[in-house]
Amino acid sequence: MIKKGIILAGGMGTRMSPLTKAVNKQLLPIYDKPLIYYPLSILMLAKIKDILIIVNKGQLNQYKKLLPSGKNLGLKITYKEQEKPRGLPDAFIIGEKFINKSNVAMILGDNFFYGQNLSKLLSECAKLKNGSKVILHSVQNPESFGVAKINPKTKKILKIIEKPKKFVSNYAITGLYFFDKKVVEYAKKLKPSKRGELEIIDLINKYKKRNKLYSEFIGRGGAWLDTGSISDYYKTSAFVQAIENRQGLKIACIEEIALLNGWIGKKEILGQIGFYGNCEYSSYLKKLIK
Ligand code: DAU
Repeated sequence: MIKKGIILAGGMGTRMSPLTKAVNKQLLPIYDKPLIYYPLSILMLAKIKDILIIVNKGQLNQYKKLLPSGKNLGLKITYKEQEKPRGLPDAFIIGEKFINKSNVAMILGDNFFYGQNLSKLLSECAKLKNGSKVILHSVQNPESFGVAKINPKTKKILKIIEKPKKFVSNYAITGLYFFDKKVVEYAKKLKPSKRGELEIIDLINKYKKRNKLYSEFIGRGGAWLDTGSISDYYKTSAFVQAIENRQGLKIACIEEIALLNGWIGKKEILGQIGFYGNCEYSSYLKKLIK
């Protein structure tokens, strides 16, 4: 089972400026909680407790105020700074010591996933022993993402391209990846692309060339939403608001997931209530331990 996970939570957030001038994008709210709670909850649903959060240089204190050590969540959270946005595979170079020759999952700090079979899919992915696994989801605007061309019969990935100008396929490669321990070695061998960044597609292609690239699909019953632009960001927020208000249940309540995973008990939840203070989120936590 994959036991380590990385959240890549840096980036300039240029598309959301001026909102992101003083505060990192992943700390901005998606409805009732900071954006980073959503990718963090995905790693927790995959039963990953050992988590490295990579943040922009100079923004460490902002994150540590919100997620100090992970103790009250049954997690071990460590941080590393990224000097500048050198590209997604930089995470594995920065995280070499943390990874320490283990298999590892990575999720982008701005990715939102929701759906009925998600926990099952995540446990399946966490079983990866060799190779790399990517998660695909059908989208209307594939030109905005990394895209995979699939053999319709075997579902095997035939080709992967970053933000294709001409139509290739509707299957976007989401920002959740599972890699074996070779990922550090492969990431170190990458050369920056024309736009001056190390590209995740080039890294995944190293696995594809060796016939070690696998995929899972989020079907129609699941949602993978984009928080890239201001408009998409608010649409995601509205989605969370609609579901939570209908059900009376929270999406990505990290304390609830830790409790259900059996990682924490009443004492830690009370600790978190004290930490957040008197707010609607705390009232929800109180209900969990009644
Ligand atoms: O969201 C899925 C897509 O994410 C994939 O389909 C693409 O293949 C992948 O390249 C990526 O595309 P984006 O254009 O969305 O990547 P972006 O540069 O916006 O970065 C995604 C997140 O990672 C964002 O929260 C910022 C953070 N980041 C990014 C870079 C390049 C870092 O923390 N450091 C970096 O060096």
